[in-house]
Amino acid sequence: MPVFNCSAPGNCFTGYERLRRGILSGLAHGKSFAILGGRRCGKTSLLLQLEKDLQNEPAGPFNLQPRFLDIQALGQVTPARLFKAVFKRIAPGVKTLPNYEPGDEYEDFLEQLDEIQPQLKKEHGNDWLVVLLVDELDAAISSLPNDQFFQNLRNLLMVSRYNRHFRLVATGVREMGRLISSGSSPLNNLSHQYLRPLEKSERNELVRKGFPDGLPDPLKEKLEDLCGGHPYVWQGLLEKLETTEEPAPAGLSTATVERAGQEFLREHKDFRRWLDGFTACEREVYRLLARAPSGQLRLHDLQRGLSHEVRADLEEALTTLGFHCLIDDSNPDQPTVSGNLFRNWFLQQTHTEARSATSPQSPGAPTRRQLVDELLGTPSEAPHHPLDEVSLPELKPHDVLQERYEVRRLLGRGGNGAVFAVTCDGNGFRVKLIMSDQVLNNINRAISRELPV
Ligand SMILES: Nc1ncnc2c1ncn2[C@@H]1O[C@H](COP(=O)(O)OP(=O)(O)OP(=O)(O)O)[C@@H](O)[C@H]1O
Ligand SMILES: [Mg+2]
Repeated sequence: MPVFNCSAPGNCFTGYERLRRGILSGLAHGKSFAILGGRRCGKTSLLLQLEKDLQNEPAGPFNLQPRFLDIQALGQVTPARLFKAVFKRIAPGVKTLPNYEPGDEYEDFLEQLDEIQPQLKKEHGNDWLVVLLVDELDAAISSLPNDQFFQNLRNLLMVSRYNRHFRLVATGVREMGRLISSGSSPLNNLSHQYLRPLEKSERNELVRKGFPDGLPDPLKEKLEDLCGGHPYVWQGLLEKLETTEEPAPAGLSTATVERAGQEFLREHKDFRRWLDGFTACEREVYRLLARAPSGQLRLHDLQRGLSHEVRADLEEALTTLGFHCLIDDSNPDQPTVSGNLFRNWFLQQTHTEARSATSPQSPGAPTRRQLVDELLGTPSEAPHHPLDEVSLPELKPHDVLQERYEVRRLLGRGGNGAVFAVTCDGNGFRVKLIMSDQVLNNINRAISRELPV
């Protein structure tokens, strides 16, 4: 019976000890939590683990009653549907529920709680504490007409006559930000927590769940290289290694790990969904990091490499890429790509997209002239201002820019710079050089923007 399974939330759950302990202690002290995580990063798994933790928690002042609720499983939701779903989890014995009146759902829900309160006390004592573990809370946003349900939830947790009996731990992806961020957001009372790439000790622990003696170093290194800290990718590849024909672990080689990665990619389409969900800034940030030779850049360089329009969103993009487990942001001054399986797929994908977008066959694709003009900020309709030949730095094929771009050839010149075809790590790019006045004296040059060729 295989141990690993990347399609079963909660399977082989590993890590987050500190976060889990913090949540348990916070709950006992009146706190509720919002956990943000990317798709397949372990949101459901963490909630399932918290459910177990709460069940095993030694009885403190409260009698903890974890109640799991998956919002996505409810489909199209209304406030009545949501309150009923909560009620059913608190009192599964009550089979028939009266209709909650539209607009009065919350009041109806509280009245029903009044009715079963004696029963709850009898079963769980005076200090019963229901911990609502709500998966994908932000999925409700798109179905609900307004924020009323979330305002009611806030009231339940903070000021209602039942506030000492309820806590919430909710997960979400992007929309969760709107619910929990400061200001007038309805659930800004929740403490924020983020998923993150698994740490090395956690990854080792995960491996040992299926390979108690560990794996030979070269295999382990290959897995580290491909998976980074992504728990889903780790389980996916470990699942493949476990079920391969070759006798594990002795018969396994780095080539087996490589194949496991390729099979994982073929079978699971998540990478495409992750990329499609990127904002413009996240895409640029990830691209810059992915192209950097060691997959990392100093914050300052990262910021400088971003286009002007997205620069203000850098911090948010780093946080989001971090809780999507795609970058390791544990050293805030030097964000680093986490996992080469996604990195290489991303580079290949964006490279192909850019090629097809600029190929002459694709209708509406810019011509090379237009592309160069666009890069140089010279509208193609405008009369072209030829850059003085002598003012351009003498760049020859094989010259190296910024210690990583090898010049192949000049693609074009514009009013304030020039575009060169270059290669970096075997990939081709266009690099725009902007010349300041000083640079026109051939002193200074700055790479301002790059596009895959
Ligand atoms: N902490 C962890 N330890 C070990 N494996 C994990 C962990 N977190 C996630 N996984 C693995 O990743 C898979 C995906 O996790 P999970 O389904 O919990 O993510 P999710 O964020 O809820 O995904 P979705 O966005 O699709 O709902 C799990 O089936 C499990 O195999
Ligand atoms: Mg989930």
